[in-house]
Amino acid sequence: MALITIKQLLASAAPVNGAVARGWIKTRRDSKVMSFAELNDGSCRESLQIIFAPDTGDFSAVLPQLVTGAAVEIKGDLVASPAAGQKYELQAKEVKIYGGCDPEKFPIQKKKTSDEFLRTVAHLRPRTNKYAAMLRIRAELAYSVHKYFHDNGFFYVHTPIITSSDGEGAGEMFTATTLDLSKPEALPRTDKGEVDFSKELLGKKTYLTVTGQLEGESLATALGKIYTFGPTFRAENSNTYRHASEFWMIEPEMAFYELEDDMELAEDFIKSITKSVIEKCPSDLELFAKFVEPALMDNLKNITENKFERLSYTDAVKLLEPVNERFDVKVSWGVDLASEHERFLVEQYFKKPVILYNKPKEAAAFYMKLNDDGKTVRGMDVLVPRIGEVIGGSERENRLEVLEKKMADAGIDPLPYWWYLDLRRFGSVPHSGFGLGFERMMMLVTGIANIRDVTAFPRVPGYAEF
Ligand code: 4AD
Ligand code: MG
Repeated sequence: MALITIKQLLASAAPVNGAVARGWIKTRRDSKVMSFAELNDGSCRESLQIIFAPDTGDFSAVLPQLVTGAAVEIKGDLVASPAAGQKYELQAKEVKIYGGCDPEKFPIQKKKTSDEFLRTVAHLRPRTNKYAAMLRIRAELAYSVHKYFHDNGFFYVHTPIITSSDGEGAGEMFTATTLDLSKPEALPRTDKGEVDFSKELLGKKTYLTVTGQLEGESLATALGKIYTFGPTFRAENSNTYRHASEFWMIEPEMAFYELEDDMELAEDFIKSITKSVIEKCPSDLELFAKFVEPALMDNLKNITENKFERLSYTDAVKLLEPVNERFDVKVSWGVDLASEHERFLVEQYFKKPVILYNKPKEAAAFYMKLNDDGKTVRGMDVLVPRIGEVIGGSERENRLEVLEKKMADAGIDPLPYWWYLDLRRFGSVPHSGFGLGFERMMMLVTGIANIRDVTAFPRVPGYAEF
């Protein structure tokens, strides 16, 4: 028989004699005649109230072990609860202790503990209401991503995690090696004395991927519309609230889409998955609105109900230049806009999401399509309040000669990209795509302010515990 969760018990259509609940004790309190415990199994935010009454059993021997953190099984009758706010409670008849818990040593206590402290016990923080809620929302958000693309005719593809080319051309890659770097004298060498990566297990120098885009382009120019959803890695030493060394990215790529179509898809996608979470996770969201971000539901409405502003880079500069005194980095045409400028546009000026497009080619990745002005490229970023960029995307350069020239100008060796250039040699078509940072999207929907707290086991500069 499948085990029944507390979520299922609480949704039961009728009382149940002989119900079984398993989980971890949140709290226990004793009155003169009875004891009460809150039991949570992670299936939902709500705990099941357990009643230990003298007329249903003698619990004096087990009660001392029913402490915060203990893992137990309770058998009894699920009855209508007289208490406000919950439909049922469980009248205990039998108790089994799976694993005890020393309340003096258990780091997760009911009293409020800081996010900073909980990061040091990341293996136990999913037992808190807040992190369990975060993880349930994360699972729902991931499901809604797959559902959105599946329902819209996209194929889910898997692109390599170990790669031999830099998909962003930005040089922010982790090397993936089997060579023993602790013994430099034993490393295989070329005639010139350099490390001979042809002796690597995979036959060449390899890295952890920064993006699945380039392989995604190969697949989109065969299947039409694809998306990836996988881990990506950036060896960028950015210690901020929104940068992680390992994060998950969703990357749709579409043949025959131009920049305009790409922006439309990005907006519809963000709205759709935000609505899914609002619809599917009301109780968990309420926790975040109550304890983390009081304006959460208004912020989410701002995403789902407003048309995102479309703003060209050149128009953005015209808006920003007159208020340059606000910024550390002064804006003029050609300056790469920083977080402070983006947040001004989104939070102060438009007060809603902005899609910033057509940026100067110098501030853009090599693969973005050059505009006819010769100065700007068909790239776009979706900027949202509090976080800034959640999506980066573009129409791709599909003209072989233009792409080759852009790579040469950027000092990129074309050799490892021979196959990417082939896509422009054989049946090249206009195509576009974007990448949504899943953790940043999680920050958006939960109101959580730090990327370290929207994933179970964060990887950030200086930190790889667990
Ligand atoms: O703007 P980025 O670097 O774009 C790409 O990687 C493209 N190849 C995507 C594509 O067109 N297929 O990254 C895309 C998104 C960013 O907008 C941001 O949300 C997230 O990925 N991101 C990060 N999230 C957390 N930590 C980091 N260090 C991130 N770097 C990028
Ligand atoms: Mg970007």
